[in-house]
Amino acid sequence: MQWPSITSKVKKDPVLEAKVDQILRDLSLEEKIGQMIQPEIRHLTPQDVKDFHIGSVLNGGGSVPNGNRYSKAADWLAIADAYYQASMDDSDGFMAIPLMWGTDAVHGVGNIVGATLFPHNIALGATRNPELIKQIGDITATEIAVTGLDWDFSPTVAVARDDRWGRTYESYSEHPELVREYAERMVVGLQGLAAEDGFLSSYKVIATAKHFLGDGGTHNGIDRGDCLADEETLYRVHAAGYYSAIEAGVQSVMASFNSWHGEHMHGHQYLLTQVLKEQMGFDGFVVGDWNGHGFVAGATVLNCPQAINAGLDIFMVPDPEWKQLYYNTLEQARTGVIPMARIDDAVRRILRVKLRANLWRKGLPSGRPLAGRDELLGAPEHRAVARQAVRESLVLLKNKNNLLPLSPRARVLVAGDGANDISKQTGGWSVNWQGTGNTMADFPGATTLWMGIEAAVSSAGGKAELSVDGSYDRKPDVAIVIFGEDPYAEMQGDIQHQVLKAGDIRDLELLKRFKSQGIPVVALFITGRPMWVNRELNNSDAFMVIWQPGTEGAGVADVIFRRANEDIYHPVSGQLSFSWPKRPDQGPLNWGDNDYDPLFPYGFGLRYGEADALEDNLPEDGISLEETSHILELFNRRPLADYRVLLEGKNNDRVFLNDNQAQVTTLSVYCVDRNVQEDARRAVWNGQGEGLVALSSPNRQILSDYYQTSSSLLADIKVDCAPEGRVWVRIGCGPSCYSQVDITEHLHGMTGQGWKTLVVDLSCYPAAGTDFGLKRSPEELFALILEPFALVANGKLDLTFSHVRIEKSRAQGASVRLV
Ligand code: BGC
Ligand code: BGC
Repeated sequence: MQWPSITSKVKKDPVLEAKVDQILRDLSLEEKIGQMIQPEIRHLTPQDVKDFHIGSVLNGGGSVPNGNRYSKAADWLAIADAYYQASMDDSDGFMAIPLMWGTDAVHGVGNIVGATLFPHNIALGATRNPELIKQIGDITATEIAVTGLDWDFSPTVAVARDDRWGRTYESYSEHPELVREYAERMVVGLQGLAAEDGFLSSYKVIATAKHFLGDGGTHNGIDRGDCLADEETLYRVHAAGYYSAIEAGVQSVMASFNSWHGEHMHGHQYLLTQVLKEQMGFDGFVVGDWNGHGFVAGATVLNCPQAINAGLDIFMVPDPEWKQLYYNTLEQARTGVIPMARIDDAVRRILRVKLRANLWRKGLPSGRPLAGRDELLGAPEHRAVARQAVRESLVLLKNKNNLLPLSPRARVLVAGDGANDISKQTGGWSVNWQGTGNTMADFPGATTLWMGIEAAVSSAGGKAELSVDGSYDRKPDVAIVIFGEDPYAEMQGDIQHQVLKAGDIRDLELLKRFKSQGIPVVALFITGRPMWVNRELNNSDAFMVIWQPGTEGAGVADVIFRRANEDIYHPVSGQLSFSWPKRPDQGPLNWGDNDYDPLFPYGFGLRYGEADALEDNLPEDGISLEETSHILELFNRRPLADYRVLLEGKNNDRVFLNDNQAQVTTLSVYCVDRNVQEDARRAVWNGQGEGLVALSSPNRQILSDYYQTSSSLLADIKVDCAPEGRVWVRIGCGPSCYSQVDITEHLHGMTGQGWKTLVVDLSCYPAAGTDFGLKRSPEELFALILEPFALVANGKLDLTFSHVRIEKSRAQGASVRLV
C-alpha cells in the first residue's frame, strides 16, 4: 500500500541544507560513523567523545551522574559541559560537531530528584485536554533544560491494544484519534511551534516519537513481541501519532523493539525507509532503542550493518563494548557492506537536526539561559499544572447514592497500601527505571494521596486518620481504600491476565471488611491500565480510577471532597481513554471491535450527581485465577508453551532435542518414560566439561507475575549416577545473563532414591551479571527470561527430570529442599 505523505511544518531551509552539505563534504568517514553511535553515560568519557567523534549520548532510566541519584543540576551540567567541550574541540584537526544528550522524561524528568512528575500518559488520556498536554510538554522541556540536556525520548505515541502490555500506561489511548491529537500537542510543548521564533530554542528540547512501529500492537501484549496487525491497521491505528508528530515537526523517531510479522523493526527496511522516510516524508533521524539492533536476525549488538542498511541512523548502544560496534560499522562502510550513500543520508539527517536545534549557537550547556536554575525543578507553578492534570484525569466508575464528593468535615479513615506510598503513586520511570522502592526522600516537595486528604479534611474541621491495614478505634463515617498495582516499566509490567495481583486478595478483604461493618467505602484504584475489578466494584460504594498520579497526589483530594459550604469544589470529569474489561480473560478489548463488550466503554466517566446504574452484583467468576495462576507449568509430559529442550556443550555448541535423543560435546539427552510414554528426559553428562540442558524459549516469557519471594521452582528429578563435579540449577535470559543455585549436595542426597521433587525458593537466586555489564536482580531476570529452568554440570552425571513448574506460596524463606 502507499502511505499518505505528511507535510511537516518544519520546512526544508535551503541555507541550512547547504550548510549540511558543506559539513558533510568536510567530514571523514571516522567522524561520520561517530555521529551514528550513541553510547550511555556509564560507558562514555569525554576523551571517547573526542577519539570516536561521538555524536550523541543517553542516560538510561535511573542512570545518573556518578551513580548519585541525588545529583543536582550542577552535576548534570558538569558532565554535559565536558561532553560538549570534547565534541567542540577541533585542536586535533577534526571538525567541531556539538554532541547532543538524550534522556527519558517520560512523565516529567523522572531521573532527577525533585522534578515535577505528571500523571502517566494513560491518565492524561482521560483528561481529554490537549492544551494541558502542551503545557506539560512546555514544563518538561523547561525542567530538562535546567540540566542542560538537549533531547527527550518522548512522547510515546503507542496505541496500546492489549492492556496486558506492561507499557499500556505510557500510551495515551487505545483510540488512534486521541493519540494523534495528543502527540501533536506534546511535540509542540517540547520543541516549540514549528516555524515560529523559539522553535528548538534554549528553552526547548528535541522530541522523539516512539516506538516505531506497532509497539502497542504486539500479540498477547508482550513487550518487544510480534505485531501481527495487517498493514492497513498498522497505518490506521498504530501510525496515527507519527502523522501528527511529524507534521508538528518532531525531529526524531525511535525504532521499536517489536517485530512486525516476525521481522524486527530495527532491521525493517520497508517500514523504516520506504514508509517512514520516503512515503511519509520524515526528514529527521531514526534512533534505535537500547541495544535493539542486536535483535535483528543475523546481527549482534556489536555488529549490525543490517540496521543501518534498513534505515536506522543512530545506534543506541549502551553496551560497554560499543567501540567494537564503531569499528565494525566503520569497516562495513569502507568495504561497501553499508553503502556510502546510506552513511551520508544518516549523517545528513543528524546534522540537519543539530542545525535546526542550533546546537552550535546554544553553546556550552551550563551557559544556556535555564541551566542550573534549580528553583525551576518542581517549581510551584509546574506542580500546579501537574495537580490540575491529576484532578482532570480521575475517572469515576461507581457512585452509589452519590457518596462522592465527601464532606471534608467527616471522620475519614484512609486505608490500603497505596494511601501513603509515593513509589506506588508515581509508577515506572520515576527516579529509577522500574519505579520500585522509592521513598519520600526521592521526591522532595511531593504530596502523597494521604497528605492531600489529611490537609483537605483537617482544614475543614473534619478528622482524617491513616490506617493502612484498616484498623480503627472509633468507627469512621467513611473509609477511603487506596490500592492497586505496584510500579513497573517495560517487560516487568507484562501480565497474563488483567487481574489485580492474581491470587492476592488482601485489598478485596479490606473493602469487604468495611462493607460488613456498615461503613461506606470509597475505593481509589491506582493502576497503569484497566483491570478486571468486578469483585472490588461490588464491595465499594464509590469507585474511582486514579491511575498513577505522580508527585502531586493532593490533586485527588481536590476532587473527592466538597467545599466546607457543601458546594462542589472541583468536578470529576475524567473519561476512560481505554475500554474497561467485563471478564478477567477477555483479552484485547478496544473501541470499535465487532463484538465490543466492555464493562465500561471507551469514554465512560460518571459526573457528580449523575445517576449510577451499577449494582453490587457484577459477576465475580470468569476463570478462577487464583487457581490457574498459582502454578506455572513449564514441563509436564512435554515442554509447555513455546519451550523446547536445549542442550549446550562446552564449546557453546547448541542443539534442540527434536527427536527422541540429541547430543553435544559434553552431554546427551534422551526421551524416556516415567508414567507414560516419553514423559521424562534423561540427561547424561560425559565428564568432558561443562554442559547444560534447559527449557528454552525463543521468546521472552512473562514470568514476572511469578517472581515473588513466596514462589519456588519445583522439578521432579531422579538421580541414577551421583554427580562427579558441581551442579547448578539456573535461570537464564540469554548469553552470559543468568543466575544459578548450587544443588550438588542435594543431588548426592537423591542418588538412587527414585523420583524426588527438588524445591528451590526463587529468593535463593542471587543477582546476576548480564551482557549489558549491569547487575540484575532476580526480579528483573524473571522479566527477561528465556530459560526458566536449566541444569548445568561440569562433571559426570546421569539424571532424569519430568514435571517442572513454578508454584506460588511454596517458599520457606530461601531454601533448597527435597520433598
Ligand atoms: C525503552 C525506551 C527508552 C530507552 C532508553 C528502552 O528500553 O524502550 O523507551 O527510551 O530504553 O532508556
Ligand atoms: C537500564 C535502564 C534502561 C533500561 C532500558 C535497564 O537495564 O538499567 O537504565 O533505561 O534498561 O531498557
